[in-house]
Amino acid sequence: MNNIPQHIAIIMDGNGRWAKARRLPRLAGHREGANAVKRTIEAAQKLGIKYLTLYAFSTENWSRPKEEIDGLMDLLCKTLDTYTGEAQQKNFRLLVSGAREELPPAVLEKIEKAVQTTAANTGLTVNLALNYGARQEIVHAVNTLLAQGKKLISMDDISAHLYQPAVPDPELIIRTSGEERLSNFLLWQAAYSEFYFTPVLWPDFNADELQKALDAYAGRTRRFGGV
Ligand code: FPP
Repeated sequence: MNNIPQHIAIIMDGNGRWAKARRLPRLAGHREGANAVKRTIEAAQKLGIKYLTLYAFSTENWSRPKEEIDGLMDLLCKTLDTYTGEAQQKNFRLLVSGAREELPPAVLEKIEKAVQTTAANTGLTVNLALNYGARQEIVHAVNTLLAQGKKLISMDDISAHLYQPAVPDPELIIRTSGEERLSNFLLWQAAYSEFYFTPVLWPDFNADELQKALDAYAGRTRRFGGV
């Protein structure tokens, strides 16, 4: 029997399609997506999940129209502000994975404040993947090791130099909206993860949908290459 995973990672996909189906601008989909993030954090906390990684902005997302990027960054700033307050009340901690230095200064400032303010909280850890790319993360780890003078690199060395080395590998990765690929998300950490794909669009995701993913996970046998 598998228990509840300690780390769930989610590729939150389908905001644009959700908005299009309602003849709304794409940003309306992202706004509703932010509400789904709030619901999911609450549900994960109730279930006693320890880590929740959310793919909020990939390194490839910069190719979107400027208006959408600006809107997303603005939404992130506002959400980070709200979450920092809520995190203090609800004892959850915020972390960020990604190439922070390339983010707009306003977002960077909110991130640093959120991470510092919530650092001592002991409940759920919410790890936001922002300007995140898994190949870039691995290259960053290798370059850090080379700069330290390492000649031979082990798997443990790479794990120890990822963006958030203290976050364990996710047992379960969820992707919404019917797409079934990893899209440069947690390539290293996903080596033994279970995958759960659902046609539900991210803005419609909620506690019931999370429970369905957990039920599917509970029915899987994880063998890690053994028998
Ligand atoms: C994918 O949908 C979603 C994103 C690229 C952005 C994710 C952002 C949010 C869920 C909202 C804000 C996040 C936080 C953490 C507050 P898409 O735009 O690719 O949808 P589509 O494939 O239907 O066009």
